[in-house]
Amino acid sequence: MARKKIALIGAGNIGGTLAHLAAQKELGDIVLFDVAEGLPQGKALDLSQCGPVEGFDAKITGTNDYADIAGADVIIVTAGVARKPGMSRDDLLGINLKVMKSVGEGIAANAPDAFVICITNPLDAMVWALREFSGLPHNKVVGMAGVLDSARFSTFLAWEFGVSVRDVTSFVLGGHGDTMVPVVEYSTVKGIPVPDLIKMGKSTQERIDAIVKRTANGGGEVVSLLKTGSAFYAPAASAIAMAESYLGDQKRVLPCAAHLEGQYGVDNLYVGVPVVIGAGGVEQVIEIELNEQAKAGLQVSIDAVKELLVACKGIDSSLA
Ligand code: APR
Repeated sequence: MARKKIALIGAGNIGGTLAHLAAQKELGDIVLFDVAEGLPQGKALDLSQCGPVEGFDAKITGTNDYADIAGADVIIVTAGVARKPGMSRDDLLGINLKVMKSVGEGIAANAPDAFVICITNPLDAMVWALREFSGLPHNKVVGMAGVLDSARFSTFLAWEFGVSVRDVTSFVLGGHGDTMVPVVEYSTVKGIPVPDLIKMGKSTQERIDAIVKRTANGGGEVVSLLKTGSAFYAPAASAIAMAESYLGDQKRVLPCAAHLEGQYGVDNLYVGVPVVIGAGGVEQVIEIELNEQAKAGLQVSIDAVKELLVACKGIDSSLA
């Protein structure tokens, strides 16, 4: 069987880390694309030279030409710019919307059968726009947010309870931003829900509330420490888990920004919800029962995503 092909659009911090992880896991041959000349070629050369040391077989190439992503099975998009001081959210939206337009057109022309994972922020709006610009089926375009957000939540819960991260599962719904909804009731240590652990005296409501807050600010906390960029190791690892589920038809249940068509009372929006990812792309959207507090939180999050889309449509009338 021919090797799979993974195209990474954007060869910055996340793109480079994605390439390294995909090569180490031998997910397939890797094409790094970027508009910056030399950057994807340089990273591809450097990463190729990890092969003999780490013992992986993957052809890694860098390019500035969309033709080279032809036939990709999976495409992971990190192209764009991060918000800089003095830049409004609309400025950022305008710049990254243009990037999504060129990326969407590049994908449509060269790899329309790919499974596409978007990471570029603001995520819920960018994944929606990328889908619109590419014209790919909705079930083949998803956003990476929930795997990362719940990984952050799980990390903090594991630290709190003094247990292995392997035994923690956690749930985060909604948009990828301050309005995300970490769902405590569905977060467990080896199946024991966090509220029960509080009753057992393993933590307190106040401490869990602080963890929920820290999770929602998870990206911001890393940015304020790094000062020159945003998180890249965990975002890359999260997208690779999604790619593996698709390539291996693993049917993992992963929280992703998925296109909703009536689920959770939402129509034609990308919002973070648990989905099943297999060879068919997003094969199921799982609608879980929410308590009133989580429902209200999710509504705030949905409204924030809607507001972003209104702004996108204002900037690019072809989306209206
Ligand atoms: N086409 C392709 N690549 C582009 C384009 C474009 N139109 N515009 C910019 N890029 C490239 C840049 O040249 C840069 O190499 O995207 C890359 C982005 O890399 P970084 O700035 O290092 O950003 P990174 O940390 O990888 O994050 C990428 O993911 O989590 C989000 O908020 C983050 O939106 C950001 C994205």
